Amino acid sequence: MAGEPVTVETRGGVGIVRLDRPEARNALSPEVFEALGEAIDRFDADPGIGCIVIAGSDEVFAAGADIKAMRDRSFQDAMTQPSARFWPRLAACRTPLVAAVSGFALGGGCELALACDMIVASETAEFGQPEITLGIIPGGGGTQRLARVLGKQQAMELVLTGRRIRAAEAHELGIVNRVTREGEWLDAAVELAQLVARRPPIAVQLAKQAVLAADETALSAGLAYERRLFELAMATEDRVEGMSAFIEKRKPRFRGR
Ligand code: CAA
Repeated sequence: MAGEPVTVETRGGVGIVRLDRPEARNALSPEVFEALGEAIDRFDADPGIGCIVIAGSDEVFAAGADIKAMRDRSFQDAMTQPSARFWPRLAACRTPLVAAVSGFALGGGCELALACDMIVASETAEFGQPEITLGIIPGGGGTQRLARVLGKQQAMELVLTGRRIRAAEAHELGIVNRVTREGEWLDAAVELAQLVARRPPIAVQLAKQAVLAADETALSAGLAYERRLFELAMATEDRVEGMSAFIEKRKPRFRGR
């Protein structure tokens, strides 16, 4: 019998969720989507967690949606099964998300990484949207996020051919923030996440919202939205602490207020 499909741990203000379904290359079954969503919701609600890392194993981040679970799914099933709820649930997470990718990130696995706010990849990582080879198209945001990050031409090639790209090319194209040597990917992702987790949490959440708004709005509306969020940040105790600490030449002690 397989155990829990995800494992969770915390390291210095960072919540780590690891997909753990090696027999199916971490394929995103309904159970995985549900467990992953629950773990992320719990970390997001925990004031002790300032950043969340989503990871797989050395061999595979995730091989995509579970093809075996999908094959016999009816239209009605597709509308109601957990993956339909998962993507908006992930998008609602206020805490920054870092994908730590080693090995394959394919289909829904690639989309899961792209839905995170930053990606740290092992040099062994391979990204791709092979849905077209199965007679479907990406359904977890792949066409939209790739087009926004890469531009239409490059996104079109990946989505229409299903071609996989290695970490170095993904980095060149701007999909991943940094590439590490084999074996160093998780520590590097946690280190990046800990840096974020040390920052004042309200400002971090406002900053995340502001950057994400750039994909959603026209520049003038985005600038106005940023200004409102900036004003909210000015209302926090943490910004008084941050500015006082700078002037008094000491380390700030942020309290999330
Ligand atoms: N769903 C269900 N089972 C999967 C799976 C998937 N996405 N990926 C792998 N598995 C299973 C295999 O069926 C196999 O099971 P059995 O032992 O019962 O035969 C087991 O995992 C091991 O797989 P492989 O022998 O293929 O392992 P490999 O190491 O040789 O290759 C791989 C790894 C390159 C990831 C390969 O498994 C693969 O190409 N997987 C499918 C990738 C894919 O097409 N993903 C897109 C899914 S559709 C999607 O994601 C839709 C969406 O956008 C939401």
